[in-house]
Amino acid sequence: MKKILFTALSAAALLANPYESNKEELASVVKTGQEVSSALLKTLGKNLQQHMKAEGPVGAAEFCSTKAYALTADVDEQFGQDVHVKRISLKERNPANLAEGKEKAILQSLETLQQNGVVLPAYLVERVNKETYKYYKPLLINKQVCLKCHGDISGDRKLSQFFEKTYPNDKATGYKFGDLRGTIVVTIKK
Ligand code: HEC
Repeated sequence: MKKILFTALSAAALLANPYESNKEELASVVKTGQEVSSALLKTLGKNLQQHMKAEGPVGAAEFCSTKAYALTADVDEQFGQDVHVKRISLKERNPANLAEGKEKAILQSLETLQQNGVVLPAYLVERVNKETYKYYKPLLINKQVCLKCHGDISGDRKLSQFFEKTYPNDKATGYKFGDLRGTIVVTIKK
């Protein structure tokens, strides 16, 4: 009897995911991920809206090209050394936002899920190693305004010219409403 119990326990131990996290740690990762991604979306959204209203697409695109990265770095700094935030995409506009390593496979999986009719989850958590997690928040083309700069932009000559000049390898056009544009990635060290 004892032996059977022992065997059952060791089998359970073998089957357990070596990266299995305790519930509180995971909950705190999700909480931080949500806070950081909301802060980033709020800053970027507010600025985009203001500049679209005041200057139209070209002015707003110019603003994004010079400030979106810096605004992201500001949010990054605000949350301290153990938290990092960035945006990634498989079809990036700014090469600095290119998905790297496993991030690419994760974005591809999300894309495959979406293509198969799955409604994407609000977030995913990757356990990178014992003390590091990555919180991913899928970003969809979820507002008509996104299409102004990420949809078919061939009708706006000034804007196309601006993107050609500023991002010679721009891949971030041709999206349709509802497409997965990329994710926010919040890297969290415990
Ligand atoms: C006024 C033009 C404009 C609009 C509108 C706009 N974007 Fe962008 N977007 C840009 C520019 C410019 C960049 C590159 C920023 C940089 O250089 O860091 C960018 C970059 C991004 C990135 C980072 C990945 C990459 O390709 O570099 C994501 C994700 C993104 N946009 C999503 C969206 C979503 C979602 C919307 C709608 C809510 C949106 N954008 C609306 C101009 C725009």
